[in-house]
Amino acid sequence: LLNNMDIQTTYQQTILYAAAKHQAVKQRLPGTENLPYVIHLSDVAMEILIASQHTENFNTKLAVQAALLHDVVEDTKTTLDELRLIYGEEVTEAVSALTKNDELTTKEEQMVDSLKRIQSQPKEVWAVKLADRITNLQKPPSKWTKQRKINYHAEAQMILDALGEGNAYLASRLATKITEYEFYFKS
Ligand code: NI
Repeated sequence: LLNNMDIQTTYQQTILYAAAKHQAVKQRLPGTENLPYVIHLSDVAMEILIASQHTENFNTKLAVQAALLHDVVEDTKTTLDELRLIYGEEVTEAVSALTKNDELTTKEEQMVDSLKRIQSQPKEVWAVKLADRITNLQKPPSKWTKQRKINYHAEAQMILDALGEGNAYLASRLATKITEYEFYFKS
């Protein structure tokens, strides 16, 4: 069913689905009082849509769906089996690679493992991870310690090193954001 839809209709269907899933667990946008998490999903999809205009041979529909669904398994009660029924195998594999394995103990192990799985996916999935971190390198929540900001900055560089060659446009944007983020812990 979704295969026959244009990108705009796919976007609208998918953001409704994802917003409801994140709302069902009352997930808020980090760093805000009460704003809905769907803002983050929309930000990532926005980066992807602009990147699609700067990228040859880009499957925009796959990338937009992966962008809007990238946190739905990690953060809500949604299962990969449910995604497979609605969105099919390609989108489900993308979301699976973008989902941390919580059986691994440290955050670093989880990140290294996820990056490795993303590298075995189409370049659109690499692009979603780059876009995710670009949008997350805004002003950090005020409760974050300096060390947490330093770690987040280092992790962003790790993402860029692992996935940068997947999308030149987003890699360049992420590199700029990484440099700008230093302001939050060097000042
Ligand atoms: Ni995210």
